[in-house]
Amino acid sequence: MANFKEISPDAPAAEKLLNWVDNRFPASKLFKEHLSEYYAPKNFNFFYFFGSLALLVLVIQIVTGIFLVMHYKPDANLAFASVEYIMRDVPWGWLIRYMHSTGASAFFIVVYMHMFRGLIYGSYRKPRELVWIFGCAIFLCLMAEAFMGYLLPWGQMSYWGAQVIVNLFAAIPFVGPDLALLIRGDYVVSDATLNRFFSFHVIAVPLVLLGLVVAHIIALHEVGSNNPDGVEIKGPNAPKDANGHPLDGIPFHPYYTVHDILGVTGFLLVFTAIIFFAPEFGGYFLEYNNFIPADPLKTPLHIAPVWYFTPFYSMLRAITSEMMYALIACVLAGAYFGAVRTQLPQIIKGGVLGAAVVLSVLMLSIDAKFWGVLVMGGAVIILFFLPWLDNCAVKSIRYRPDWHKYLYGIFVINFVILAYLGTQPPSPIGERVSQVGTLFYFGFFLLMPWWSTIGDTKPVPDRVTFAPH
Ligand code: HEM
Repeated sequence: MANFKEISPDAPAAEKLLNWVDNRFPASKLFKEHLSEYYAPKNFNFFYFFGSLALLVLVIQIVTGIFLVMHYKPDANLAFASVEYIMRDVPWGWLIRYMHSTGASAFFIVVYMHMFRGLIYGSYRKPRELVWIFGCAIFLCLMAEAFMGYLLPWGQMSYWGAQVIVNLFAAIPFVGPDLALLIRGDYVVSDATLNRFFSFHVIAVPLVLLGLVVAHIIALHEVGSNNPDGVEIKGPNAPKDANGHPLDGIPFHPYYTVHDILGVTGFLLVFTAIIFFAPEFGGYFLEYNNFIPADPLKTPLHIAPVWYFTPFYSMLRAITSEMMYALIACVLAGAYFGAVRTQLPQIIKGGVLGAAVVLSVLMLSIDAKFWGVLVMGGAVIILFFLPWLDNCAVKSIRYRPDWHKYLYGIFVINFVILAYLGTQPPSPIGERVSQVGTLFYFGFFLLMPWWSTIGDTKPVPDRVTFAPH
């Protein structure tokens, strides 16, 4: 029995138990590595609440989900009524259901704030590329999870929303129709679709999500947290005390465990207020049409996804056949400025230009709907590449040129406008605005390698800025 640690037979029982466990499972070691001896920068601000809040919402969703599954029936003839049964007859069923439905929207609010924090403080940059990439994969999973969960109450919006989105896959050339059939398990959204979405929603996607969250945190603890100054507190040149602990760091436990209780309290105040007083949230968290049972013979007048998908839905609707000309102009301009006007060898310039022309021809010959689907997917996929798009000399927005702040501000406003337009019925003005918004969204990322290098950055301090309070 090598490496077994002996302790005094007179030690308290709890200490003996812990020693017994530690000799068989690294409980204390894990606690130290990830909590009591995980040094986090001491200047975390409001934005740093959202990681732990995302963990909290994840737990809320899993626990309430387990109780919902006890009473829910994944059957096209019973699903709607079983949700009504949960709401009216199951003791506390209404609370569990509203916690889960509000939790879905809360998850996206928290995760959007969490991602925005990463964006403004450059938390995606070296050495945290994998933390960011795992985060983007989590975001994709979260979208799949929410989309499939939304079909389960089998209301009009569940049904027709799924119909619209699954039909989008049919726009992919060659494989599209078969792919849509595979997803639905039928020629229209039906009981077979409900069964497979249920299976994915309750077990497959949550398993992947949990695995990704663990990977996300392991990757973060390997490299250490960033902070609002973007100063590395653990680097070889960072100041350390005699024990090698960063002078700008504090142990996560107890400092940030206590600090996060504040965030959790604030969050729960808002979360419970919504659950008890406005669970439908004006039709944004639970759409009114979804209180009508699914009717395959009656299409609702206006089908819109839930608010957290609408920025991407707007981008999908923005891609009309007219918009294809604007996109072709962008492709050709990109090839010209990105290759032809540079010092690249002649052969590469020719290749890029040729590829741009071929792409333009394809863009004219394949239906705009397909490119809309590609743009909608691309809007999420492009986030994965952020670590390699940003060339600014400094990480944090605090030390970037002032106009970067305005640019990020416009990015957020643009995203909110796209989200709003996605909730509205199509209109000529809305279409035009969402087209400009889509071009801005992609321009922000695709031109980042260029614009992020422009302007004078401010000197980054050696130590984090911190005012005790
Ligand atoms: C279920 C969803 C998620 C959970 C539970 C989660 C959890 C966490 C936690 C606990 C932290 C450390 C505390 C903090 O820095 O706030 C963190 C950090 C981080 N997360 Fe997430 N996260 C999630 C989704 C995402 C997404 C979608 C992204 C980006 C696409 C992302 C990017 C990051 C980054 C870059 C950091 C490091 C931040 C820094 O050090 O400044 N996370 N995450």
